[in-house]
Formats: sequence, structure tokens, C-alpha cells
Amino acid sequence: MLMKSSQTDTLQRALFPAGFLWGVATSSYQIEGAHNQDGRGPSVWDTFCAQPGRIADGTNGDRACDHYNRLDEDLDLIASLGVNAYRFSVSWSRVQPDGRGRWNEAGFEFYARLLEGLAKRGIEAHATLNHWDLPQALQDRGGWANQLTSDAFLRYAQEFHRRFAQQLHSLCTHNEPWVIAVLGHEEGVFAPGLRSRSLAMEVAHNLLVSHGRVLKSLRESGTSVPLGIVLNLSPIYPASDSEADVHKARIDDGLIARWYLDALFKGQYPHDVLEHLGDDAPAFSEADMALIRQPLDFIGVNYYTRNFASTGNPWDVHSTGNEVTDMGWEVYPPGLTELLCRMHRDYPLPRTLVTENGAAYKDVVVNGQIDDAARASYIRDHIEATLRAREAGVPVDGYFAWSLLDNFEWASGCSKRFGIVHVDFDTLKRTPKRSALWYRDFLKA
Ligand code: GCO
Repeated sequence: MLMKSSQTDTLQRALFPAGFLWGVATSSYQIEGAHNQDGRGPSVWDTFCAQPGRIADGTNGDRACDHYNRLDEDLDLIASLGVNAYRFSVSWSRVQPDGRGRWNEAGFEFYARLLEGLAKRGIEAHATLNHWDLPQALQDRGGWANQLTSDAFLRYAQEFHRRFAQQLHSLCTHNEPWVIAVLGHEEGVFAPGLRSRSLAMEVAHNLLVSHGRVLKSLRESGTSVPLGIVLNLSPIYPASDSEADVHKARIDDGLIARWYLDALFKGQYPHDVLEHLGDDAPAFSEADMALIRQPLDFIGVNYYTRNFASTGNPWDVHSTGNEVTDMGWEVYPPGLTELLCRMHRDYPLPRTLVTENGAAYKDVVVNGQIDDAARASYIRDHIEATLRAREAGVPVDGYFAWSLLDNFEWASGCSKRFGIVHVDFDTLKRTPKRSALWYRDFLKA
């Protein structure tokens, strides 16, 4: 694939304001490894990975990228890209092994070093409290279906904030609550691997309430850290003009997008979705909905592809003829512009960040180099799509490439590579791919 060089490309960093955030993103379980080091307790993902057949290639996050033991090297790597922001998540069971009892000082020490290292390099720290790795001890008591987890999450958030507020440029409660709820509790393909729609919707509701409780509490304590949440969103198109497909697209969008956005911005769940769920809809009170609707300082959007809804006809993303990534996801940059514009039209958006965007490809190492032109184009074209949204008036103010490193890609294991930096999982050697070099040159220009 041919790619414009960053010198001759009309897409330039200068088209964005000086304060625009340019970052890379990761998450704790996917990169840290050190699963039993320095007192870390098990999370639901440790348990899930240990169950035969759950992970495509049988790998797990025990070692992953061993980021925990290679922190300084990785901080230098991040700095070498010229980004001004880094998005990472905190492993709750590293700082509180059972999610409820004593704090683990060694765990906090790791995040203290991370935050210091970022500050020293002039890079903003954007932390997420829950990127799916719930302490297993809490799951043993019902996980997100139990009020106790929400209480514990509030204490964990308060403690992390108390220690690190000075060094944080933003704090996100949950990453992609839909994924935790639906993939984890309805489809059972992610931890904790359960299969019940009513449970999933109860979890979705409890995650939102716990988000609201954290924001309310930290605000009342007078925080100056910008607070928000990150959602996985993509436009959903009906696969045909049939009434059934159009209806399905509307409901799918309701379940993935409006459920969360309406709750966060309007303090209500969409009526059509409640009706669709029937008895599987969660019980909720007015007070819950008021809690969920806390003002947001920012909202994060993770965008990878668009989706199609079909009630039976086999038409799907492959039928568009567009390129698909190694995940089978269609490459569709206009979907990001469209999504951001739609959010701006339908909701009073606060500062909006593209908190994840990237692609898995089958990379090949040739003479120690990885020429991932397709990934570089993917990132370039989605940055351009972000610019289009800005031009249309969307308050989008940051872009984070997913991901810094090839890492443990959940149920796909280590077989799907999303990194702009290659990781050799035997030697753990890091090698910036062409996409990383493109990003660096784009940021430098
Ligand atoms: C996410 C996921 C990432 C995935 C990425 C690619 O927040 O969606 O957090 O962890 O690795 O989305 O599937």
C-alpha cells in the first residue's frame, strides 16, 4: 500500500489547535504482566484466562508485555513518539488485592513511578480506574451485580484520587461499560464469562450508577481533576431497507449507544430499548438516574469500525468491498466523523476525546523492521476524520492511538497485534513499526 509521506501530506498537525491531545493508549491487564509480583491479587481476567478454551491462542496476561518491569524503557518509548498524553489504566487488584481490604503499597508505588515518569517527560497522564480487570474476590461475591462492588469501587476511586490527584490530567471511571456488561455477562466471551441478558443489563446499570457515585463524591471533595467515562461507539446501519433491518439497527444502536448516552446526558434510558428488553430491563429508581447524570468534564469515544444490523440476510461489513483488518473489522474512517457529529447533534457534549482508535494487522518482521503501511494509513485517515468532525463544530480535542504496544488482546490472546510498536513475545523486545514512525513524524512536523 502506498502512503503519502508526512512532508507532502496535506494533513498536518498544525491544522489542530496547540492544546489538542495527541496520545497513545494501553490498559493494565493487556500490558503489565507481573501477575503475581509484589502482592497483586487475581482479577477476573486471570480467572477467565485459566479456563480452557476461553482464549483463542491459550495465552494470558501473566507476562503480557512485562510493562511492570520495563516501565522506564516504555516511558522513553512513549516520549520518543513526541506525544503529549498517555492513556493507561490502573489494575485495581494490584493496589487492593481483594478489592475491599488493605491497600497494597507496592502496587501504588508502581503507579507513582509511572506518573512521575510521565511528568518528568512532559506527558499528560490520563488514567482509567476500570479497564475490565475487576478483583476476583469481588466477582466471588457477585461482581458488578452486587452493590458491594459499587461501594468498593467508590473507595478505590477516592483512594487513587487522594494519592495522585496532583499528577492526573483526567480520571475516567469505566472503559466501555457495554463490553463489560454484554460481552462479559450476556455473551460470555469476555470475563467473567456469564450468559444472562438480565444480568448484563443489571451490570450495565450498576456500572453507570457507580460512575455517577464516583463523580459526585470527588466533586464534593473539591477535585480539580477532569472526570469522565469512555464508551465504545460505532454507527450502526441497517443491512437493507427492510423495516425489520431498520428496526434492528435502531435497537442495536439503542443498546450500545443510547442506553449509555441518554443515561449520562439526559438521566433516562431510551423507551424503545426498555420496551425491547421487557423483563430483562434492570430495576432502577429516579435517584439512580439522577446519580448517573453527573456533569462530565470529558467523554471518551473508542472507535474502530461501523456495524450493520440485519435480521437474517447475510450482508455484512465484508460485503462493502472495503478493506478489513485482522479482526475482520471494516476500515471506515467516515464513520468516526459521522459518529462524532451525531453525538454533537444529539447531546450537549463536553470536551470529547477519541480515546482509542487503531487496527490489528498481521505484521511481518523483515530485517528487524515492520512495514505496517496499512496501519499507518488507518491512523492517518482517522486523524483526518477527527479533523472533519472538529471542522463541523464537534468539541473533539484529543486523539489516542490504540495501542502503544502489541499486547494481550483479550479473548484473541496475543495473536492480534494492535501496537504501533511491535513486541516480540519471546524476547519482549520493542520495535517501533512504520506506523509509530509515521505518527512521530506527523507530530514533529
Ligand atoms: C477497548 C479495548 C481495548 C482493545 C481494543 C481492540 O477499550 O476496546 O479496551 O482494550 O484492545 O478495543 O479490541
